[in-house]
Amino acid sequence: MTTDRSAGTTAPAARRVTVPEVRAAKGRAEPLAMLTAYDAPTARLLDEAGVEILLVGDSVGMVVAGLESTLPVTLDEIVYHTRAVCRGRRRALVVADLPFLSYQASVEAAVLNAGRLLKEAGADAVKLEGGEAMVPQIRAIVAAGIPVMGHVGLAPQAVHAQGGYRVQGRDAAAREAILADARAVERAGAFALVVEGVPGSLGAEVTRAVGIPTIGIGAGPHCDGQVLVLHDLIGLVPEGRTPRFVRRYADVGEAIRRAAAEYVADVKAGRFPGPGETYEG
Ligand code: KIV
Repeated sequence: MTTDRSAGTTAPAARRVTVPEVRAAKGRAEPLAMLTAYDAPTARLLDEAGVEILLVGDSVGMVVAGLESTLPVTLDEIVYHTRAVCRGRRRALVVADLPFLSYQASVEAAVLNAGRLLKEAGADAVKLEGGEAMVPQIRAIVAAGIPVMGHVGLAPQAVHAQGGYRVQGRDAAAREAILADARAVERAGAFALVVEGVPGSLGAEVTRAVGIPTIGIGAGPHCDGQVLVLHDLIGLVPEGRTPRFVRRYADVGEAIRRAAAEYVADVKAGRFPGPGETYEG
C-alpha cells in the first residue's frame, strides 16, 4: 500500500485559455468567469468547474494567512502559491498578483518581479493595481513579453490612501479619475482590467470606455466578466466579514466544522481508527 499523497496533483495539460482569447472576449454576450485560487487541489476543482481565469491574488494574505490587509504579502509567497495553482490547473489561464512594493518603486523592479512570476512560478500573466501612475511599469512589463491585467477602482494595496476598503468613484471627479485610469491602463498595453468596488453605473461606463475586457468585483453586472475571492463564495470567511456584493454559493466552513467535530467525537469514543483503517503486518 502506498501513502504517496502527491499522486495526481500535477494535472495533465489540456488546451489552455490564452491571453489573446481573454482579450478577444471584450463585449461578448457570455461574461468571463474568474476566481481566486491559492493551492493545487482547489485550482483543479475550479478548473474542472469551468472557471476560465484563476487569480493567485494577494488576498491570500487575508483569507488564508489571516492578515488584516494584503500589504505584508511577499513576492516569494505569491511565487509559492502560483506554483501550486499551476500544478492543479489544466485549462484555466493563471494570473498572479504582483504584491505591494514589488512594482511601485521602479520600472526595473516591476519587470524583474513580474518576470519571476512567469519564469519561476509558471503564471501566464501578472496583475497589478493602479492607473495612470503605473503606466511606465505596465508598458515596460508588456514590452518584456509579459501580459498584464490592470486593476482600478478600490485598490486593496492602497487601503490607507483610500481611507479603508471603501467604494470608489462616488462623485463626479472620482468617476472621471477612475475612467482616466482605466483608459491609461489600456493604452499602456494591459489585456484586461479588474474594476473593483465602484457603483454599478461606473462599472458599466468603464466597460464602455475601454476596448479590453473589464472584470468586475463589486462593480455591477455590466462588466465583461466577474471575479470573486473564493473564500467569500464558499463560506470560509467568518460570518459578517464578506462584502455586500458577494453571493455565498456554499457553506464549506460549516462542512469542515461538522467533519472535524465528528472526527473528534470518534477519536474520543475510540471509534477511529476502526477495522480496515489500520496497517497490518
Ligand atoms: O487579490 C485579489 O484577490 C484580487 C481580487 C480582489 C481581484 O485582487
